[in-house]
Amino acid sequence: MQRLRVKSRDFDYDVVAGRGAWSAFRRFPQAGYSSIFVLTERQLWQRWRTAFLKASGLASPYEIVVPSGEESKSIRMAERVAAALLKKGADRRSLLIAFGGGVIGDLGGFVASTYMRGIDYIQAPTTVVAQVDSAIGGKTAVNVGEMKNLIGTFAPPRLVLADPVVLKTLPMRTFLSGFYEVIKHAIISGPSLFSLMEKVAGRMRPGGDRMLDRLLVRAAAVKVDIVNRDEHEADLRRLLNLGHTFGHALEEVTAYRRFLHGEAVGWGLLCAAQLGVLLKMLDKEEAERISVLIRRVGPLPTIRDLSPAKIKKLLPRDKKALAGQIHWVVPEKIGKVRIVRDVPMDLAVEALRSVQRSEVRG
Ligand SMILES: NC(=O)c1ccc[n+]([C@@H]2O[C@H](COP(=O)([O-])OP(=O)(O)OC[C@H]3O[C@@H](n4cnc5c(N)ncnc54)[C@H](O)[C@@H]3O)[C@@H](O)[C@H]2O)c1
Ligand SMILES: [Zn+2]
Repeated sequence: MQRLRVKSRDFDYDVVAGRGAWSAFRRFPQAGYSSIFVLTERQLWQRWRTAFLKASGLASPYEIVVPSGEESKSIRMAERVAAALLKKGADRRSLLIAFGGGVIGDLGGFVASTYMRGIDYIQAPTTVVAQVDSAIGGKTAVNVGEMKNLIGTFAPPRLVLADPVVLKTLPMRTFLSGFYEVIKHAIISGPSLFSLMEKVAGRMRPGGDRMLDRLLVRAAAVKVDIVNRDEHEADLRRLLNLGHTFGHALEEVTAYRRFLHGEAVGWGLLCAAQLGVLLKMLDKEEAERISVLIRRVGPLPTIRDLSPAKIKKLLPRDKKALAGQIHWVVPEKIGKVRIVRDVPMDLAVEALRSVQRSEVRG
């Protein structure tokens, strides 16, 4: 178990990651709160409630459950959670614990940061994506229609408790999809995390083992480091968008039905690496190493049948495109990525086509 410190503009907080992390709640100053709420999903909570309460020492919190799935990340659901908080007597000194994946974390953080103009909250992430990425950094959001994360806040949690024990019950596909985000962190941060990921790839099971636990802590540390240097997404934090410009377009062109988010990012990373090669920024050998690792994580749903022309139209709509200009995050080598603004659209499409062809070959 490791304690990573995040320095936020408002206050500093710990990300406690690794086996036994939930017990860190015992040292959290609970006494100052008038009441404690857990926001979670029914099945997940049924399975983990006893273990979490026992490890954390948290005694009979109020519980608010929402349905699982991205649909819960909506203004309507935020309103329902706020109404439930009010009904159960939550006031400005209440504490909310978001116990779940990125959906619960984003929704819980959003509600906490706006309920009565903001109450404290804690992230207890339960998916790989949430433990290495979404629970860290204080970005909260809900979707509006098809527009993902349209309304949101920057609101750091008071504590993040990332215990890998909870990953045991993740469906295999959901579990594996989180590792494309881990690979993203490895490409950004450097060869040592990348090699660790190479060692672990191909034998990853939700039950985990020591090396896997270590990998997750290291991947979380990459996010902590970036957030520490750029909390409010001036520039550096945009590097985390690696693989996401293509990834989001792939999710959108398939109406969010074909890929889990991480899987779309997996393809997005392959496209970004290929774009690096076409821009002569990245060696073919490095690109190949990235490609081999991604393919070893597991099978990705096909992109063979998707129309490059349609995807091209969706690229500029990425939310991270400032004033219509896409900020492409392109790897130069493992451990170095750069933002490039003037990539010809045809070259980006060529990168996509090339990745599509490589799937056909196979
Ligand atoms: N705020 C940020 O900085 C940030 C960063 C990345 C992603 N996100 C957001 O995170 C969301 C995706 O997160 P996610 O991939 O965790 O999705 P998710 O929260 O929907 O969880 C995925 C699935 O796993 C189930 N689940 C969660 N924990 C489980 C467990 N321990 N055992 C069994 N099942 C479990 C959930 O019910 C769900 O069906 C997206 O909405 C995305 O926009 C936010
Ligand atoms: Zn992502």
